Amino acid sequence: MALTAEEVREALRTVEDPELRQSIVDLDMVKDIEIEGDTVRVVIALTVPNCPLQSVISERAKEAILAAGAKKVYVRLTAMTEAERQALSAKLQSAKGLVTLAPDRPPGSEKTVYLTVSSGKGGVGKSTVTANLAYALARSGLKVGLIDADIYGYSIPEILGIRRQPTVLEKLIVPLYSFGMSVISMGFFVPHNTPVIWRGPMLGKMLDTFFKEVHWDEDLDVLLFDLPPGTGDIPMDISRRVSWAMDILVTTPHPTATHVAARAGAMTLRLNRSILGVVENMSYVECPDGTRVYPFGEGGGRDLAAHFRTELLAQIPLAGDSPGIEDPVTGEIASGLYPADHPVGKVYASLAEKVMEKLGLEPRPEAVR
Ligand SMILES: Nc1ncnc2c1ncn2[C@@H]1O[C@H](COP(=O)(O)OP(=O)(O)OP(=O)(O)O)[C@@H](O)[C@H]1O
Ligand SMILES: [Mg+2]
Repeated sequence: MALTAEEVREALRTVEDPELRQSIVDLDMVKDIEIEGDTVRVVIALTVPNCPLQSVISERAKEAILAAGAKKVYVRLTAMTEAERQALSAKLQSAKGLVTLAPDRPPGSEKTVYLTVSSGKGGVGKSTVTANLAYALARSGLKVGLIDADIYGYSIPEILGIRRQPTVLEKLIVPLYSFGMSVISMGFFVPHNTPVIWRGPMLGKMLDTFFKEVHWDEDLDVLLFDLPPGTGDIPMDISRRVSWAMDILVTTPHPTATHVAARAGAMTLRLNRSILGVVENMSYVECPDGTRVYPFGEGGGRDLAAHFRTELLAQIPLAGDSPGIEDPVTGEIASGLYPADHPVGKVYASLAEKVMEKLGLEPRPEAVR
């Protein structure tokens, strides 16, 4: 028996837009359903023309309608009109209560934990640690957001292999969904690696945009901030906006790095924020026979943790290149993420476990593997 339009619509309700992660029916993207015997034709309007994930939407819609009982399915993709985009933007905003809530409200909800990752010194691995920790938390089933707050020196897009640009609906920016995390970075808005040459006030404006104009999920469990090196305007600005954010200090075992990281830690405390713990990166190299060598010396992380009466959360080995991981949805290859079954990926998994334990967060079954 032929399907009814209502049955097709119900089947499509299970299909989510990969970026907005809501049903394409609820997002008013299903524009037309035509049924002729066991052939179904649907028209789906994308939020932007040539949306990079259009084939994902089309495939998912096709599968859902076939699973409902159709024999042949044709999906035609169009783009929303300006008026439809405006209506969707208004709908998303009012659903989140953004219109009526205080303008300074940070992303997420009261239960969202904010974590900054900092170090005094550049190049110690903050961005690598932030991205891999975020990925390990997402694998545990948490809803994870990642703000690349290094406006000049952004590197998160490169680490995650992101080649897309975010959808912008009116004044609402949809974060890019990558490896199970919602991500925003200045790099998404800068063509061809052009250097960003802005002064302080503009940096604050960009952070403002990241906080207020990005469509963050209400139910984010954790929002991580990859900070630029040092103790400049951006860490100060973030401390002002989310003074209850906790900090993870990254250092290498070398005394110079530890000494400089101590300055970043001192600033965190001066701003009345707490330090969740220390991550020592590039700690050792594991030889094939299992012995460890310590090219940058030993004890930096331990000493820094003792100095701040906090815990050394992890020691991450000096690693070779990651084999790369392919995002199952977008097909993008992250060259800076370590797979869960890689020795370094396992260290990040236990770092994530420790972070969750300290924050009282529990793993969820719907984990991204
Ligand atoms: N454990 C590690 N083993 C080997 N290489 C690493 C490790 N951690 C980071 N790296 C490499 O070191 C370089 C710097 O890392 P990353 O960009 O994460 O540092 P950063 O502290 O964020 O730098 P910046 O201060 O410029 O933001 C990168 O090339 C990264 O791939
Ligand atoms: Mg960095």
